Amino acid sequence: MDSLILRGGRPLEGEIPISGSKNATLPLLAATLLAPGFYRFTNVPQLKDVRTMSNLLRILGAKIDESGHELLIDTSHASHIEAPYDLVKTMRASFYVLGALLGRHGEARVSLPGGCAWGPRPVDLHLKGMEALGATLTLDQGYVVASALPLKGATFEFGISSVGASANVLMAAVRAEGTTVLKNVALEPEVTSLALFLNKMGARISGIGGRDLTIQGVAELQPADAVMSPDRIETGSFMCAVGMTKGKVKLTHADPQQLTAVIEKARQAGLTVSVGADWISVEHSHGKLRPIDVTTDVYPNFPTDLQAPFMALATIADGVSHITDTIYADRFTHVAELFRLGAQIHMDNNIAVVTGVPKLTGAPVMSTDLRASVCLVLAGLAAEGETEVKRVYHLDRGYEKLEEKLSRVGADIRRAEGDL
Ligand code: UD1
Repeated sequence: MDSLILRGGRPLEGEIPISGSKNATLPLLAATLLAPGFYRFTNVPQLKDVRTMSNLLRILGAKIDESGHELLIDTSHASHIEAPYDLVKTMRASFYVLGALLGRHGEARVSLPGGCAWGPRPVDLHLKGMEALGATLTLDQGYVVASALPLKGATFEFGISSVGASANVLMAAVRAEGTTVLKNVALEPEVTSLALFLNKMGARISGIGGRDLTIQGVAELQPADAVMSPDRIETGSFMCAVGMTKGKVKLTHADPQQLTAVIEKARQAGLTVSVGADWISVEHSHGKLRPIDVTTDVYPNFPTDLQAPFMALATIADGVSHITDTIYADRFTHVAELFRLGAQIHMDNNIAVVTGVPKLTGAPVMSTDLRASVCLVLAGLAAEGETEVKRVYHLDRGYEKLEEKLSRVGADIRRAEGDL
């Protein structure tokens, strides 16, 4: 398994281009199953998760040509309805194909994502939404077997705000007969971009960008092209990288409008942030970082995916920071690894109380998930001496060419190829 080797302390200077958003791309890929034909997606990030979703589409009968950041997708013969365990277990977002398959074929057989059980577990809202639209769901050997002939418009309220459930149910609802009203839909930009794309395909969704969506079902949809929006989580992660190292970096091809809460916290931490229509400039030239209080919440509040990167900033701030995750109460696997670099963190349920230290010291650390991994890379950028972040396959799922982008602006970081 590959690892990243860093030597901390080098200021970052220059420009970093932001890639297309992983979390916006995945539901759009699933949506191509809704209408047979040719699609052209551009600004697609080159990531393992995108390849996993592409492979799933291929299993379902699609043809996909990848050329740089462009995907040409042909779903003319995507007639299969089974999403196998081997793929779904590696990426939770594969579950998105449930709504698209139901919408197109009126039936689907999709493996439950790994670790989830039937019933009151993290895909319950996806399933309840499909049932509200008239789908019959059974569980067969770990697979959700769904059928609905036809899907019928209905009113459904998501008990809690869920990005995945909102996107999944929306993909089924656009083909349901009659009118569907979805209430308490997630406000995250990834749901908005999916809804806009579905309308481009001929769906009739109104209220886009708000909590409640009204959907007039249509009998047919057509293929459409799409440009992937910038990755707001990658953008926020690079803002933290500047804070960890000092220096000045312009993040280009970004969307500052999606990052209001994040920019506010970066400024609280002492970073100088200026924005243009599609760029964010981040500077941290002198002085210590200031402590921050961060509470993750649904959009437009501070995203849970940037909780770990901002904790890296807090580890070297001048004072005590409080970092609370209200979305995933136990998303703190990075804490034990940050200890190894000399961080001082006390956990109080879902609140990390981080007392800034004058310096971190390099050590071997282990990645445990995507955002925890980038937190460790950020800490390594500031740590004295060498830090080896092991198991970077997590990072490769969601950060395009991270080490290349960082080394181009001056970081001392390289990939070491592992045996496994
Ligand atoms: C998406 C993002 C992920 C981000 C998360 C929260 C993708 C591919 N992933 O994940 O990066 O961290 O949003 O912004 O876009 N829940 C249920 N039942 C359900 C579904 C969710 O209880 O059926 C709960 C979850 O446990 C969590 C909360 O709802 O506490 C929000 O999760 P959700 O928005 O669904 O996250 P994902 O869509 O899986």
